[in-house]
Amino acid sequence: MEEHWTVGRVAELAGVSVRTLHHYDDIGLVRPSGRTAAGYRAYSTDDVERLREVLAYRRLGFGLREIAELVGDPGADAVAHLGRLRGLLLARRERVDAMVAAIDRELEARAKGLTVTPEEQLGLLGARLYDAIGGAYPATRRTDPRIAARIWDALGDARTVVNVGAGTGSYEPADREVTAVEPSAVMRGQRPAYAAACVSADAEQLPFADGSFDAAMAVSTVHHWRDPLAGLREMRRVARRVVVLTFDTDEPGWQDRFWLTRDYLPEFADVLHGFPSLAGMAGAIGARTEPVPVPWDCADGLFEAYWRRPEAYLREPVRRAMSVWTRVGPDAERRAVRHLGDDLASGRWAERNGGLAGLDSADLGLRLLIA
Ligand SMILES: C[S@@+](CC[C@H](N)C(=O)[O-])C[C@H]1O[C@@H](n2cnc3c(N)ncnc32)[C@H](O)[C@@H]1O
Repeated sequence: MEEHWTVGRVAELAGVSVRTLHHYDDIGLVRPSGRTAAGYRAYSTDDVERLREVLAYRRLGFGLREIAELVGDPGADAVAHLGRLRGLLLARRERVDAMVAAIDRELEARAKGLTVTPEEQLGLLGARLYDAIGGAYPATRRTDPRIAARIWDALGDARTVVNVGAGTGSYEPADREVTAVEPSAVMRGQRPAYAAACVSADAEQLPFADGSFDAAMAVSTVHHWRDPLAGLREMRRVARRVVVLTFDTDEPGWQDRFWLTRDYLPEFADVLHGFPSLAGMAGAIGARTEPVPVPWDCADGLFEAYWRRPEAYLREPVRRAMSVWTRVGPDAERRAVRHLGDDLASGRWAERNGGLAGLDSADLGLRLLIA
């Protein structure tokens, strides 16, 4: 005969009140399905297992409605739930470690009398940069057709595509079946109604089985990932083909390529500090690399977009849609904008960069990784 546990005994073992168990019973979340010899309702082994899952998800902060969906998933058995719970706990441990590291960094910076940038402060809270700055994104960030053509070409004959770090959906090909992945609620909330369905997740832990997609793409996002190489490997795991638009920091002269970082914003080098090399990223997924020139009239307001239209960098909405400015902090931003404004007014910028006027596109280090 199958063993059964009374409500009181289960409450004692699980460390919850009998009232809680009655509530779960009332809402249909965990129903004691058996009877004791005396005829009282009691929990079977399966009921106890379900309760264990409910309580574990609860401890991780899930709401009862979400938990009902999770434990009601007919495709998930106890092993699947344990795997999922393990992943959630590891992610939580990583977040705690990251928070401790951020506190250490900030303490060190403050001890040296250094300014703590808004990004560093948000990092400490574990907040997402794009939840803080993403509201300004759609003003200037959109699909540039020439860059899009390169990405779509690289996707080859892929029918199903996962777009990682999808943001508001730029560069998502309309003629394929796209699943978007985007961790920032602010960015997800700005996706147009017609855009592909979007899952909330990080590149470093994609919630898909191996080989789920024909291709995985990531555009202008890898440098935001906590662990770019882990994210790239995840893309490789879930898709046969990987297409990534990123930039090259290997070449020693890269700082000199773009007048904005060379003459006005040397702090950009700090932003890239710790970012993996292009060769390292390509090596992680066995990719080849191709240069992607930035057109002089690039429609996507990315950091390098206005290399032939320098006045654009004086405009606040243009800068607010580029994360670099938040990362370098307000002091560096004010100084760079003031110097650029002065040089444009005095003709010094034109003197130095006059040669750019004759170019239709420029290689400013954007690269496609194709694996
Ligand atoms: C510059 S936006 C690019 C958005 C879009 N791919 C585009 O081309 O417009 C960078 C995006 O990466 C997302 N992101 C940041 N960390 C991420 C991570 N660990 N995994 C996936 N996406 C992430 C941000 O929330 C943001 O939406």
